[in-house]
Amino acid sequence: MTAIIGRMGALDLSGVTKVFDSGEDQVHAFGPADLSIMSGEFVSLLGPSGCGKSTLMLMIAGLLPLTAGSITFHGEPVTGPRTDIGIMFQDNTLVPWRDIYGNVALQLELRGIDPEKRRDRISGLLKSVRLDGFEHRYPHELSGGMQQRAAFCQTMVHEPSTVLLDEPLGKLDAMTRESIRGDLQALWMEQKPTVIFVTHSIEEAVQLSSRVCVVTPRPGRIDRIIDVDLPWPRDHAVKRSAAFADYIREIQEVFHGFGIL
Ligand SMILES: Nc1ncnc2c1ncn2[C@@H]1O[C@H](COP(=O)(O)OP(=O)(O)OP(=O)(O)O)[C@@H](O)[C@H]1O
Ligand SMILES: [Mg+2]
Repeated sequence: MTAIIGRMGALDLSGVTKVFDSGEDQVHAFGPADLSIMSGEFVSLLGPSGCGKSTLMLMIAGLLPLTAGSITFHGEPVTGPRTDIGIMFQDNTLVPWRDIYGNVALQLELRGIDPEKRRDRISGLLKSVRLDGFEHRYPHELSGGMQQRAAFCQTMVHEPSTVLLDEPLGKLDAMTRESIRGDLQALWMEQKPTVIFVTHSIEEAVQLSSRVCVVTPRPGRIDRIIDVDLPWPRDHAVKRSAAFADYIREIQEVFHGFGIL
């Protein structure tokens, strides 16, 4: 782990542990884990299915209590849901009865912000993910990838300083995934929110992240944190480089050590 002594992270996790207790059955889902994330970092959580990644995201968002340990957000303990953190899960949260513009605006309304005053923000975001011209279409009129892009705008519209993305691209085909990765990278480079990104894809993690946390099989622990020292933007040239391939290999070796790859 990268110890950052004397500096407060945007997010600080200490001994974070989750055990689900349903009567006689106990499932040790995650932890203990320590992690300190600085403002503006893009950190990926990469780990096998069932290792507790979503559980951790829910705890960070304040939607699930911890069994042990603590999480602080800019120094404040996380004790309940926070409206200043953006969250996006694999299943998008677009409502079918609102058009795309209305769906994005909804996230402002829920926070008591008048969408009329943020028209430019909504239009600008939709344009940045190439959905301009589709503002007045309904979700069912959009492809899966377009819906994910719209859901991403929902997550970003209230300008959260921190964004939790739990496999947002998981259900998409490889080509769409690749193109949305590019959108996500561009948006992160421009606005520099703190991002925690869950993925099963080693390549996706290396392409997007400043740091990759490799999580062990359940109960998930952070086995290794890899600083990805590659230039931005991570375009095709970077992805074809020997250094990129070295990171992929290094992470594959870690999973091999878990008996997975
Ligand atoms: N509400 C719950 N009650 C009991 N057990 C749970 C609950 N939620 C998750 N678990 C268990 O905790 C473990 C971790 O689940 P989690 O969904 O966090 O994994 P994950 O790493 O996100 O997996 P995936 O990559 O498949 O999404 C699993 O064994 C799961 O069965
Ligand atoms: Mg999950």
